[in-house]
Amino acid sequence: MMNSNLPACIQNKSAKIAVIGLGYVGLPVACIFADAGFDVLGVDINPNRIEKINLGQSPIEGDEPGLAELLATVVARGKLRADSDYANLAAVDIVLVAVETPVDENNVPQYVALKAAMSDLGKVITPGTLVVIESTIAPGTMQSVVQPILETESGLKANDDFYLGACPERVMPGKLLANLRRMSRVCGGGTPETARLMVELYRNIVQAELDATDIITAELVKTTENAYRDVQIAFANEVAKICEINGADVWKVRELVNKSPGRNMHLPGAGVGGHCIPKDPWLLAYSANGRVPLHLIPAAREVNESMPIHVAEMTLHALEEANIAPESARIAVLGYAYLENSDDTRHSPTAALVDYLQPKVADIRIHDPWVSPYRTDIWTTVSECDAVVLMVKHDAYRKLDFERMGKALRTPIFVDGRGFFAPEAVKSAGLRYFGVGRG
Ligand SMILES: NC(=O)c1ccc[n+]([C@@H]2O[C@H](COP(=O)([O-])OP(=O)(O)OC[C@H]3O[C@@H](n4cnc5c(N)ncnc54)[C@H](O)[C@@H]3O)[C@@H](O)[C@H]2O)c1
Repeated sequence: MMNSNLPACIQNKSAKIAVIGLGYVGLPVACIFADAGFDVLGVDINPNRIEKINLGQSPIEGDEPGLAELLATVVARGKLRADSDYANLAAVDIVLVAVETPVDENNVPQYVALKAAMSDLGKVITPGTLVVIESTIAPGTMQSVVQPILETESGLKANDDFYLGACPERVMPGKLLANLRRMSRVCGGGTPETARLMVELYRNIVQAELDATDIITAELVKTTENAYRDVQIAFANEVAKICEINGADVWKVRELVNKSPGRNMHLPGAGVGGHCIPKDPWLLAYSANGRVPLHLIPAAREVNESMPIHVAEMTLHALEEANIAPESARIAVLGYAYLENSDDTRHSPTAALVDYLQPKVADIRIHDPWVSPYRTDIWTTVSECDAVVLMVKHDAYRKLDFERMGKALRTPIFVDGRGFFAPEAVKSAGLRYFGVGRG
């Protein structure tokens, strides 16, 4: 039945590993297993990505400490190679899956990539293989989507003929390698034996706790931890709006609230983006399948989605106060990525802000040091604008010269969507300051 050699092959690192999906998650995972001594094959459907990776060049352009160097090293050593051909997967012992798992416009999971990957994998998988889904999926998806496709396509039976588990990733762009090495992981196995095998495997790269459990628990933990974060941020955002109308400062309020034992008020801000937090609460909600009335999770999503619009309205109000008609206003927006020092623009709050403002104002210019069409000169971007809106806390903006900005602007308005600057630092340079959570 099962490949009894797999535990030994993991221990002596002769097990051959494949990673399907070489994006923000799959690429560092592939590199780190290759660096640990395994032979790793990366599979992706994006030919440009494959080509770049095989040249030892990282397709991720954000600030990712150590990743470009590690990739170049493991490719040069012949420990990692990338391909688009699933036929090669017949020769591997372990398959890790890290394809995207978005939701559609109705917040329903959209598993086009996952289903295609499982279907292609199922056609070539051999008995004794360990298949681990690292993608974030709605609780119950392993049972309702992954397992049936693999079994139908392969004619093999999960837990009898091949091992099946879920080990959701917890990484964040900007810290991919450090997160992978140092954050604990949940190893959900189709059987306790599979969970133990997964712990053995991940022990090679993770210097933190590895919790063996079942699949449904692993699926629930991942979607719950991101829904928790979304709800907490929504709470902070709602308090920020309350502080604004009370003429108070949410950043001070938060600091003092968090002195109360057991409180951990999150950071308010101009919106929640990326591939994970905006959709993982919907994955959790989807698993309730209408059988549980849901209030909090959808409400949190609504609050967080409102924040880019809130900042846009704040900007329009600032223009009105300065007697600038929106239809003649020129606005500069700093930051387009969803996260500081990242090139990831998925679900960008700036995109929502721009969509809202575009029909109302004369001109919007965007600057982002990490995102290519917006890697322009910041001073050319802000020149002769009527307002500057800070949407992302990129390090490059930390030392903004407000004196120079005051001179470059046509109207000296600065809107801080992230609480990045002390209002006094902005005001003392002669600019009018507006900020999320500051009345
Ligand atoms: N980005 C993050 O910070 C993060 C953190 C934790 C968990 N996750 C989860 O990890 C998963 C992957 O996220 P990501 O950000 O790496 O996505 P990504 O879009 O960066 O990468 C996915 C990769 O899969 C490839 N792909 C799509 N279909 C394929 C197929 N059929 N066969 C082979 N390759 C295919 C794509 O070309 C792409 O390169 C998602 O479920 C996400 O929720 C992401």
